[in-house]
Amino acid sequence: MTTLSNNSAKAQAHTNIALIKYWGKKDEQLIIPYTSSLSLTLDRFYTQTTVRFNSDNDRDSVQINGQFISGKAWQRVHDFLTIVRDLAGIHLAAEVSSTNFVPTAAGLASSASAFAALAAAASKAAGLKLSKTDLSRLARRGSGSACRSIFGGFVEWQRGTSDADSYAQPLSQVGLNDVKVIALTTESGPKPISSRQGMNRSVATSPYYPTWIKVAQHDLIDIKVAIAAGDFTKFGSISELNAMRMHALTLSADPDFTYFNSETLAIMNEVKRLRHAGIECYYTIDAGPNVKVIVQSANATKIADTFTKLLGQNRVTTLSAGPGVHYL
Ligand code: ADP
Ligand code: DP6
Ligand code: CO
Repeated sequence: MTTLSNNSAKAQAHTNIALIKYWGKKDEQLIIPYTSSLSLTLDRFYTQTTVRFNSDNDRDSVQINGQFISGKAWQRVHDFLTIVRDLAGIHLAAEVSSTNFVPTAAGLASSASAFAALAAAASKAAGLKLSKTDLSRLARRGSGSACRSIFGGFVEWQRGTSDADSYAQPLSQVGLNDVKVIALTTESGPKPISSRQGMNRSVATSPYYPTWIKVAQHDLIDIKVAIAAGDFTKFGSISELNAMRMHALTLSADPDFTYFNSETLAIMNEVKRLRHAGIECYYTIDAGPNVKVIVQSANATKIADTFTKLLGQNRVTTLSAGPGVHYL
């Protein structure tokens, strides 16, 4: 089959910040993780992607932020499109045009919004009508964290054991409704070690990896209780601790590495200082030097102002819970 009635679609997906981190693949091909994870989808960081399957081209073309890409990043999109083509039974090349309203590859989860948007746009353009669960399973094949960006708000990715049962779902019990995340950008350029490389090295060489699998499972149970009960203190403390436990896997890898820079450490200290001064906030950090400060609405402006004084206005972004993937 080489004809499609409506071969183009545009979708928008938002990034998410993991509070219980995904850090390691049991199955690298299918992206089945060792552990379940939990995130909050964010409103002001997102990706918009248009996909068109075109019978005139013989090769996929991919533009990100107006630039045609090649090499590894192209291959990743091409491989993903091939999964979609196989599902739909089509053999057409695609034209992909994507805009990130978030820094790319900087540890602010561009791969999450990118592959969630691509999954939605490409599947629709290919003539597929996928359920949210199947979209989550598909997005997972592009980037693990992308499976959570199909949904808005608090989302859990249940690790599952196979392609069929490894997907995300929104949390059903949420008693925390005024959480905000202040993203502090210390570097907006691409990180030297991608999330994929970093987690693979941690799995392969950190002697603490088996312990992480156990601990992350308990952290997830505990944070879900805190979210259901609306216990911000417990929620923030577990998030901060889980992030540090993840980063301990990079420090204990061989060769060892870290995503932190000196500003990352300075911000962590400032968060602790604010907390000791009675202004409640916690930090979490993904695979990059940028820090997300977890706060409640009532304190958000005060805390954002503190960091604006230290870093300047354009490096401080206050985010709220955001929506799931949608078509434009
Ligand atoms: P991040 O912290 O930004 O998620 P990752 O290392 O996980 O960093 O992923 C970054 C990679 O995701 C990029 O190098 C590129 O391959 C891919 N990516 C990011 N944005 C897009 C996009 N809009 N479309 C396609 N691929 C993208
Ligand atoms: C630290 O989902 O970007 O942000 O599956 O290889 O694309 P791939 O990795 P990715 O890893 C995210 C790592 C993290 C934690 C998280 O988002 O859960
Ligand atoms: Co990523």
